[in-house]
Amino acid sequence: MPPRPNLFDFHGVSMIHYFTDNWENIQNFKARPDDVLIATYPKAGTTWVSYILDLLYFSQPDRQKSTPIHERVPFLEICIPNFSSGTDLADSLHTSPRLIKTHLPVQLVPKSFWEQKCRVVYVARNAKDNAVSYFHFDRMNLAQPEPGDWNSFLQRFMDGKMVFGSWYDHVTGWWERKQSHPKLHYMFFEDMVEDTGREIDKLCSFLGSTSTGEEKEKIRHLVQFDNMKKDDMANYSTVKVMDFKISPFMRKGKVGDWKNHFTITQNEQFDEDYKKKMKNTTLQFRTEV
Ligand code: A3P
Repeated sequence: MPPRPNLFDFHGVSMIHYFTDNWENIQNFKARPDDVLIATYPKAGTTWVSYILDLLYFSQPDRQKSTPIHERVPFLEICIPNFSSGTDLADSLHTSPRLIKTHLPVQLVPKSFWEQKCRVVYVARNAKDNAVSYFHFDRMNLAQPEPGDWNSFLQRFMDGKMVFGSWYDHVTGWWERKQSHPKLHYMFFEDMVEDTGREIDKLCSFLGSTSTGEEKEKIRHLVQFDNMKKDDMANYSTVKVMDFKISPFMRKGKVGDWKNHFTITQNEQFDEDYKKKMKNTTLQFRTEV
């Protein structure tokens, strides 16, 4: 395993080389009009929503049982030695539509997705739980920078020095894009936890899906946390850079786990800083449901 990567500034966003090494191909990526882009800040529920979309479009048992989610829904910007790049994987997909995942902040998304007027599903998660989930992910994923201790990690999160940059800029940037790009469905992890069925219904209306009530109910069942946690094609257990002994990918899947991590002082400082950073947006989050 190579040493953990370092963060560097990339067009004003903190990044690691695994997501910039293939930059020319990423920027020149040719989206197709029926591509569906699933965009998130890391740890906001990408895998959950990717799995739902995959089931809504391609509910063949073989597909979900034999192919890991990261091959069914390629990660556009990833480029790791000895593995196909995200752009190559996306180009080799035979499905229609192609489901493609990205963590890029809105301003770095290849322009063809906008030119082709692709559908985009953006998933956002409240900052506190997102930070906690990201902390445990960086502990267990040896291809991510060293997280350090929780206190220094939280400070870096507030400073926007995370892989894919500032959470605050990411969620608000995509929120603003929703105003000019009508084919953008902005959804929340907390709403998914509260009522997955309702959120699947909303997704279906956005995608123009003809799934029946029975099919949707089956999907709702399959994507429950405990079922996805057991599913080797959805739980990332096939990805060797992740050390599940440190922390599993499907960790808790809850709203409010931040309360088990934030001290009272950290919480006060975080809230104060949050108000300043989010004062110019109409975007609202729930930190409990
Ligand atoms: P936790 O670390 O809080 O448990 P991503 O896919 O964007 O990397 O997000 C991962 C987070 O989503 C993890 O959060 C993971 O447990 C949670 N998650 C994944 N599938 C889920 C599901 N079916 N139900 C609830 N949470 C889920």
